[in-house]
Amino acid sequence: MERKLPTLDLKRNYARIRDEITEAVMDVLESQYFILGPQVGSFEREVESYLQVSHAVGCASGSDALILSLMALNIGEGDEVITTPFSFFATASCISRLGATPVFADVDPLTFNIDCEKVMERITSRTKAFIPVHLFGQMVPLEGIIKDLDERNVTIVEDAAQAFGSWRKNGDLIMRAGTWGKAGCFSFFPTKNLGAYGDGGMVVSSDSEFSELLSRLRVHGAGSTYFHDEVGLNSRLDAIQAAVLRVKLKHFDEWQQERRLVADRYKLLFGEYDLLDVVKPPVELEGNFHIYHQYVVNVKERDALQAFLAEGGITTRIYYPLSLHLQKCFSYLGYKEGDFPVSENLSRNTLALPVFPELTSDEQEWVVSSMADFYGKKR
Ligand SMILES: Cc1ncc(COP(=O)(O)O)c(C=O)c1O
Repeated sequence: MERKLPTLDLKRNYARIRDEITEAVMDVLESQYFILGPQVGSFEREVESYLQVSHAVGCASGSDALILSLMALNIGEGDEVITTPFSFFATASCISRLGATPVFADVDPLTFNIDCEKVMERITSRTKAFIPVHLFGQMVPLEGIIKDLDERNVTIVEDAAQAFGSWRKNGDLIMRAGTWGKAGCFSFFPTKNLGAYGDGGMVVSSDSEFSELLSRLRVHGAGSTYFHDEVGLNSRLDAIQAAVLRVKLKHFDEWQQERRLVADRYKLLFGEYDLLDVVKPPVELEGNFHIYHQYVVNVKERDALQAFLAEGGITTRIYYPLSLHLQKCFSYLGYKEGDFPVSENLSRNTLALPVFPELTSDEQEWVVSSMADFYGKKR
């Protein structure tokens, strides 16, 4: 049979926890408690403890986590929100969906994360919030601009959809992704490092009043059943998904370590195969604990390499082929090609290689030796 390698093989992960998952899901079925309730509450408390944050509010998706957070900040028409053009669509769509204006700032070529200095240049009297995205699992070094943003009354809403469990050392403090801003937004989309078996999301915050508002906004703005103080959404974390996530959270640290081993091994192999002049591995900033949600390399002849690997049975992906400022739906914002050259360049030159905890060293050797074949390199 022809050998094949996907970028992510969820079946291997499921095989490790099948019995625990079956028991957890059966418990929910026996309880017949599907909407919020004990499973969701317990998962929220467990996340609070894991991230050392005071409040966690489950919701239906990472996209909703962002929308709910901006709604709770009363962001709407006339307001500007600064964010990165190099991210998944939801990072910017949450802003425009509420009638506010996404304002982009270019990214850093090494980490692919938003360039904090450029963020400061984009602030105007209309700027209400800043959405940093901890892209591919690595944190933005926010410590340098938190104070300045605060002085300008700009609220931070972290898009930590790809960064559950990622952290950054700030002096003696370990700061976890999602806990620096007013709100931290997570996605439990199945492919995420902490992924459910369907959609799911969460907002964490250390602000009690803000969190209470979020808890109301996710149930149509109801303070008590059928009494509505605000107009909210129907956006709850499903109880079955919460039960699945509770099982996975117990194994999470072990899987993160495995992912980091995979990342280390790739880097070693690129060196051994003499590829470092054509393949630039991800750069982990000093003090960062990168969780490698994606392992994205900057390569020469990206499209030809991707086609070559695909022919041999290796799937890779492109995150993201078109910067957000160039998306058709945002043409009304008036951006043009060349406005954010770093982001545009990354769209043309980066490639996501297979990465998941169960990826074997043989498979990694296969990926890297195939890359070496493409570039005509030898071990
Ligand atoms: C950076 C980023 N923001 C937001 C989202 C939206 O999350 P979801 O798919 O759970 O709505 C995702 C995930 O898909 C993401 O990667």
